Amino acid sequence: MRPETLAIRTQTERTGEKEHSTPLFLTSSFVYDTAEDMAAAFADDNLDVNIYSRFSNPSVDEFIKKVCLLEGAEDGIATATGMAAVSACFMTFLASGDHIISASAVFGSTHTILTKYLPKWGITYSYFDMNKPESIEALIRPSTKMLYVETPSNPGLDVIDLEYVAALCKKHGILFVVDNCFATPAVQQPIKFGADLVLHSATKFIDGQGRVLGGVVVGKKDLIKQLYLFIRNTGPSLSPFNAWVLSKSLETLFVRMEKHASNALYIANGLENHAALSWVKYPFLPSHTRFDVARKQMFNGGGILTFELKSGLEGGRKFLNSLKWLSMTNNLGDSRTIASHPASTTHSKLTEDERQAVGITPGLIRLSVGLEHPQDILEEILQALA
Ligand SMILES: Cc1ncc(COP(=O)(O)O)c(C=O)c1O
Repeated sequence: MRPETLAIRTQTERTGEKEHSTPLFLTSSFVYDTAEDMAAAFADDNLDVNIYSRFSNPSVDEFIKKVCLLEGAEDGIATATGMAAVSACFMTFLASGDHIISASAVFGSTHTILTKYLPKWGITYSYFDMNKPESIEALIRPSTKMLYVETPSNPGLDVIDLEYVAALCKKHGILFVVDNCFATPAVQQPIKFGADLVLHSATKFIDGQGRVLGGVVVGKKDLIKQLYLFIRNTGPSLSPFNAWVLSKSLETLFVRMEKHASNALYIANGLENHAALSWVKYPFLPSHTRFDVARKQMFNGGGILTFELKSGLEGGRKFLNSLKWLSMTNNLGDSRTIASHPASTTHSKLTEDERQAVGITPGLIRLSVGLEHPQDILEEILQALA
């Protein structure tokens, strides 16, 4: 079966009720027929039996299985949020004395973990510029254990050549971790290009309707087993209810991402060359500096675009206040189009230099393009720009 079909047809085994839609397994724990069965469930090498929903649950397993099939991964684990997925990767595979190389253009909370928490535990980091992948190799030390990127990045929409970075990581024996949240597996499958682990904030396009939080990491079986044991013991597990919502959402992921992307391209084309803007950035616009790389590794440009208002920080606030119906919120990946102004909101606590380093300019507006009619979205933006 093709991924579009797998996203719809993958399901936990039907119960005796013969339900068509997948049921929700709201239970904290699971029962055994005998004391011997219960003892066997707790054997160290037995990870297949449901014991307790912090460890595993059929609704969560169905969600994980679907993401694995879509990403082309051997195995996966699910977490309560995207940040739990990011931090679980760092905490499972990094130890005191280790070094991590990361793109500087990463989500704000990931930046906080890298710069504020990891050093507290004796883990050092080096940042590189997404637009200078040739600078990575010089940063590699004997203690470098992980290389971390988001592509496209949040919010700068920088794109990096996954194949190039994966080859570098392989050569030096470094774990290559990709946050694939902006693309989703309907747009990009980093494992195909050599990534070891792929993670998501499922809160975004995977849910797609701004309802629940969730995270997921997929990759090679031996790596996932280590992550599974970390999560099972430390507790950032995904709730069965959220997993059920997310699993149903995956059934519509491909059609949604196609529409998000065609709407985003329509708006990007409609805004490019607007007199109030210095630039418009979208991975599938030929003016994107990595257009060729985006075309190589992405099926479409995804649902996010950014533009820079010539009127800067104050212009950003004014733009948001001039919107009539577009949502002003810091989430993304929703059926509703969302505008945000990182410099005055999510990244307002960073200094100007820090913002610059993560690709946030004063007048940058991030648009998470929804599923409304593209002409309505464009007209709303044009009236706010006017
Ligand atoms: C690229 C990226 N990674 C991770 C996260 C964190 O996800 P969550 O909010 O589900 O913890 C976000 C949230 O916006 C994100 O955009």
